[in-house]
Amino acid sequence: MTAMTAWQSLREHHAAVKNRSISELFEKDKDRARFSAICGDMLFDFSKTNIDDEILDRLIDLAGQAGLADRRAAMFAGDAINETEGRAVLHTALRNLDSPILVDGRDILGPARATRARLIRFAGDIRAGRIAGQGGRITDVVNIGIGGSDLGPAMACLALRPYADGPRCHFVSNVDAAHVHDTLAPLNPRTTLVIVASKTFTTIETMTNARTARDWMAASVADPATQFAAVSTDAARTAAFGIAPERVFGFDDWVGGRYSLWGPIGLPLMLAIGADAFGDFLAGGAAMDRHFRETPARANLPVLLALTGIWHNQICGHATRAVLPYDQRLSRLPAYLQQLEMESNGKRVAMDGTDLGEHSGPVVWGEPGTNGQHAFYQLIHQGTRIVPCEFLLAREGHEPGLAHQHRLLAANCLAQSEALMRGRSLAEARALMAARGLRGAERERQARHRVFPGNRPSTTLLYPRLTPFSLGRIIALYEHRVFVEGVILGINSFDQWGVELGKELALTMEPILAGRQPATGKDASTRMLLRYLAKGPASGS
Ligand code: F6P
Repeated sequence: MTAMTAWQSLREHHAAVKNRSISELFEKDKDRARFSAICGDMLFDFSKTNIDDEILDRLIDLAGQAGLADRRAAMFAGDAINETEGRAVLHTALRNLDSPILVDGRDILGPARATRARLIRFAGDIRAGRIAGQGGRITDVVNIGIGGSDLGPAMACLALRPYADGPRCHFVSNVDAAHVHDTLAPLNPRTTLVIVASKTFTTIETMTNARTARDWMAASVADPATQFAAVSTDAARTAAFGIAPERVFGFDDWVGGRYSLWGPIGLPLMLAIGADAFGDFLAGGAAMDRHFRETPARANLPVLLALTGIWHNQICGHATRAVLPYDQRLSRLPAYLQQLEMESNGKRVAMDGTDLGEHSGPVVWGEPGTNGQHAFYQLIHQGTRIVPCEFLLAREGHEPGLAHQHRLLAANCLAQSEALMRGRSLAEARALMAARGLRGAERERQARHRVFPGNRPSTTLLYPRLTPFSLGRIIALYEHRVFVEGVILGINSFDQWGVELGKELALTMEPILAGRQPATGKDASTRMLLRYLAKGPASGS
């Protein structure tokens, strides 16, 4: 069978089964909960979807025909699978630095090992007060970065707050002055460490915020550079900024920005929770790597999560997916996954430059439960479009004295996936209205508003507790899911050319806003907006 026929056969099968009821699948098949898989003590349940044995077999065929096994082996071996940039993709090596990666017979991990040792020393010195600010022990760390140099450490520091016993970590990303201003305002510059995190050290938002922070620090600290560190691949630029080489932590070009949390970009996390707990986080990632490499597709969490994604998006045509962590400390996970998934698989051409035969990856969005229930779940339950939902929930929280609240949280999570699947029929709604005393046309009208179509798919990921190890496993799970979906779609998941054009045009816009250049060549809409910002008349050309 060719790849084309695998897609075709899935489409044909979908046409045949698309209207069937997921609830009925459970009624007919008492063993349907077998559509689930385990990695260690983590459970992934995808039984509340329309996927059956035949669909799963065809999806697995599809992945096989796309060459998943070879691509996976190539990634872990350090082949240059990021073909448009000619780079290897080895973030996985950062969680397993003891295993050499041989390229042309030479182990390429030496520098990464040396940097890890320096990071551990630096983080230990800051945490113990051996490296201090001019006002004494470092109490606060401000990470200035954006995209992959912000979202990962910001998400992880919040997720692992119960383990944080180091300086408080803050994150500045937006070039909007409000962000840097409001973050720095309450801090004491004399006890603050600023980390400038930028792989390229050219990103305009980060460099602008870094200069603002340096000015802020210079007002109270004699030599502000002593309270700066940098995480970057560009040693020349960090030196030009004035950061001493011993405060610069580099990484190789085989680590993509959105996959970089495992290395020096994770410095704020290491400062917050310490090197040992950071090591547990890495171990969680490494455990998922082993599972991904060694487990047959039918029991392989990243593969199953990816196949569920392909089924819902490319086959069923559901253009978005909601990530719904019933875990308040994962409230930044949806934002993190937006970059991971949408920057990786939001591409319109395949690796060879030809048009993609399928839709690109989905729109990913979400908020933690139960908050989302009181905001956008209305649309998820009764809107005209179907939004596949991905629930995440821990068996227990970190507040043993408040276990009853965790029970309520869990009850809500399970209730949502059940409600999405079961729905409420018109007959049930009518009975409900009749019980409230309504009759005739009014009963009918009110009942129709209370119908839930149901049959809406969801998956649930359960883990014992949001520990550093669990978080590492969850993040690596999603990384590999993105990889598998990318392989199936034929996408290069590791470049991001789509972010370039807006950056280039911003550079032409700034001199116009500053009044240094005319708005020549800009369209009438843009000229009107520019005039408004310059306080001129808001309409006309
Ligand atoms: O604009 C997108 C991007 O290139 C991301 O891929 C990256 O994570 C982010 O910008 C930040 O880049 P840098 O770490 O080089 O500042």
